[in-house]
Amino acid sequence: EPPIWTGQPIVLVGLMGAGKSTVGRRLATRLGLPFVDADSEIEIAAGMAVSEIFERFGEAHFRDGERRVIARLMDGERRVIATGGGAFVDPQTRAAILSNGFAIWLDAKPAVLVERVSRRDTRPLLRNRDPLAVLEELARVRNPFYATAHLRVSSHRAPHDATVNAILKALG
Ligand code: S3P
Repeated sequence: EPPIWTGQPIVLVGLMGAGKSTVGRRLATRLGLPFVDADSEIEIAAGMAVSEIFERFGEAHFRDGERRVIARLMDGERRVIATGGGAFVDPQTRAAILSNGFAIWLDAKPAVLVERVSRRDTRPLLRNRDPLAVLEELARVRNPFYATAHLRVSSHRAPHDATVNAILKALG
């Protein structure tokens, strides 16, 4: 039996290119809830882009900020939150999301994700690397964590509205 949504913050997790921000924004609109993008919140708090945080301070520093921002967003307010792809892999962040939120894994194969991420090159983990190879490796490492989300929804289908509809149906 799938777990039932009881109004917790809805937290979208999954790899880069899964559509977390786009699906999150549309889902929020359909539910009449506010939408928050965790990466944008981190950028506002830090006063610089995610790529610049990685460059100047490293990934560990970014994860610290991400952990703080997501903890703050788990305050019980009804909303939809898109997270960055690595957030749910951090043990503390994952624990906060699983206990105070309703986690939805947007699942898609690296071959599909790569089409979507190549439209934007602002992602530090993909810079100057073969995106398919990186995404395949991240899927191998991260999918076991994503699989602990409350709900798993395929985000293979375009457009993202199909994914939004699948989520709305599952939420009941
Ligand atoms: C990351 C994904 C990015 C961003 C950062 C790290 C990751 O977010 O948080 O570049 O570790 O997968 P998106 O999943 O929105 O691209």
